[in-house]
Amino acid sequence: MLRLRSIAEIPSGLPTPVVLVPTMGSLHEGHRALIRRAREIAGEAGSVLVSIFVNPLQFDRPADLEAYPRAVESDLAICEQLGVDTVFFPEPTDFFAADHSIAVSEDLLSKPLCGATRPGHFEGVCTVVLKLFNVLTPTDALFGKKDYQQLAIIRRLVRDLALPVKIHGLETIRESDGLALSSRNLNLTAIQRADAPRLRRALLAARDLRINGEQRSEVYLETARLLLLQNAPEDLKIDYLQLVDRESLQLLANVTGNALLAAALYYDEVRLIDNIEI
Ligand code: PAJ
Repeated sequence: MLRLRSIAEIPSGLPTPVVLVPTMGSLHEGHRALIRRAREIAGEAGSVLVSIFVNPLQFDRPADLEAYPRAVESDLAICEQLGVDTVFFPEPTDFFAADHSIAVSEDLLSKPLCGATRPGHFEGVCTVVLKLFNVLTPTDALFGKKDYQQLAIIRRLVRDLALPVKIHGLETIRESDGLALSSRNLNLTAIQRADAPRLRRALLAARDLRINGEQRSEVYLETARLLLLQNAPEDLKIDYLQLVDRESLQLLANVTGNALLAAALYYDEVRLIDNIEI
């Protein structure tokens, strides 16, 4: 496995397809699933690349950046074990110059959902992903549907800037009780962790309304909201609960076509997100 610590070390002409899995490290089963799928797409002859970079541009709060878990040694062991060909894990000072002053902004899909409470977050994501694509020149890149808004924005980035990269979206990997895997789950207390599957249960219950042909958004939202708040611990807060169009991510008054019900919760300072296609 090739270990690259700076942009200057990146070789050109890797065997194609070159399939990239961008991550911020602390790899869990969700990341592993992306890496395994990357190998399927690359085949034995192609190249699987994993980037590990806690991107400072996408954190709106310095404390959140500081608290983000880091586990480079065990991440490298996981990559090795999964047969990754190349890992790119640059120093922040190598990847972005101290006086870097260019960014990529997105002005539509990044407004609702996570964008509403995390100003600058998706600009940071777009800027780092475009730069990763530029320096690693993948033919394909994989992203999880757990971060559905991120995936939709990356697809738009590729379309609007005509980037020569094929984007693949993968289903969310979950714990057996339904909680979506996330590096942030480690920051929950035992009591919060035991309560957290309510997020998945609320989204599933709302989705089931579709079976009976329900069309009114407010009925979906009210059903989910009740389950999110019923007997909830005091430290639980809803950040958002919204029903949007799956492509444009704009709010829907009625559910007729492809909709997405998405939510973010706080347990104290720990923020969890999840979504379900309706
Ligand atoms: P990170 O949170 O490390 O996630 C890396 C990739 O793993 C993303 O595409 C994310 O959607 C996917 N992922 C996370 N949890 C998952 C789960 N439970 N099931 C399936 N996929 C899951 O997302 C980022 O990093 C960054 O924003 C990044 C794209 C690397 C840009 O900095």
